[in-house]
Amino acid sequence: METRVLPPDDEGIAAAAEVVRRRGTVAFPTETVYGLGADALSARAVAKVFAAKERPRFDPVIVHVADPSDVELLWTEVPLLAQSLMDRFWPGPLTLVLPRRRRVPPIVTAGLPTVAVRMPAHPVALALLRAAGRPIAAPSANRFGRLSPTHHEDVLEQLGGRVDAVIAGGPTPVGIESTVVSLVEEPPTVLRPGGTPVEALREVVPDLRLAPPSGPSASPGTLPRHYVPATPLYLLEGGPVEGGRTLDRIQCGILAFREPWAGFGRAEVLSPKGDLVEAASHFFAALHRLEGANLAAIVAEPVPEEGLGIAIMDRLRRAAAGRASVLGDRVVWTR
Ligand code: TXA
Ligand code: MG
Repeated sequence: METRVLPPDDEGIAAAAEVVRRRGTVAFPTETVYGLGADALSARAVAKVFAAKERPRFDPVIVHVADPSDVELLWTEVPLLAQSLMDRFWPGPLTLVLPRRRRVPPIVTAGLPTVAVRMPAHPVALALLRAAGRPIAAPSANRFGRLSPTHHEDVLEQLGGRVDAVIAGGPTPVGIESTVVSLVEEPPTVLRPGGTPVEALREVVPDLRLAPPSGPSASPGTLPRHYVPATPLYLLEGGPVEGGRTLDRIQCGILAFREPWAGFGRAEVLSPKGDLVEAASHFFAALHRLEGANLAAIVAEPVPEEGLGIAIMDRLRRAAAGRASVLGDRVVWTR
């Protein structure tokens, strides 16, 4: 299959909408990351998304809408709390989980009785949704378990030849996926931290609960090892030291928060100002560059766990899961 690269103008969006109406697959920018979209009410179309990503069928996808009133197509009812959250945070990086109507195909929800919905805050995504005239199911436009794409080139690298079209809409401003909140749990529960800070959500939902990363109520898609760079990643936190293995700094890359560390073969700094919003917007692109630099390991410095830092640390812990949390080499983890 040849993947068409479309411009983010009226013509490109009209062509992309036509692909969606014909039950094809289109990657498009949102404010968080690129999504791989298909007609959410067509099981056949959504099956193509799973196939292109090699995504397991037990992992449900998010449905995107052009307008808050479109949720009535998808959810059996809209509780007051959902309405308040939509009023305050939509369009934006907040996904809400509520019981689904029967017209939502089971492949979208992986057989769950609920469906996750959000209204993206990106002009191209909204224009595509309006032009397609239907909700669009879209997981992040990466191969399963790989880094989420924040540039259309990353999408082409992972999914070129496997999807019908990609809208080249520039870098995605937030850079980290949406916050997923389940409103069927009591109290309401964050299933995945993301682009809407938990502190802001608590202003509307004071008893909001943070689910443990792989606890019983976590999203099916938040597997302990979800974001896996091709190069091993070590997170510089306390914990067991990996036995026996030593690496020279020069063979490794450092993903630093505010300043580069000396002696590493390659350094990426997320935000010299120490701004977590800026850090999130650079996060996946920086990891992608380190992954492409042919290093023995990537060493990541923790960021403060507040605001978008909670989402960044969630992604880092997943990327590092299954490995020792510090290198067995003191030289590597002292500045
Ligand atoms: O920012 C985003 O959310 C991006 C853009 C494209 O919108 N999308 C995204 O989709 O990150 P995906 O498929 O990579 O992640 C969706 C997350 C997964 O953790 C999945 O398990 C969870 O949402 N999810 C989807 N439907 C769910 C449901 N019915 N119940 C619980 N979790 C659900
Ligand atoms: Mg994803």
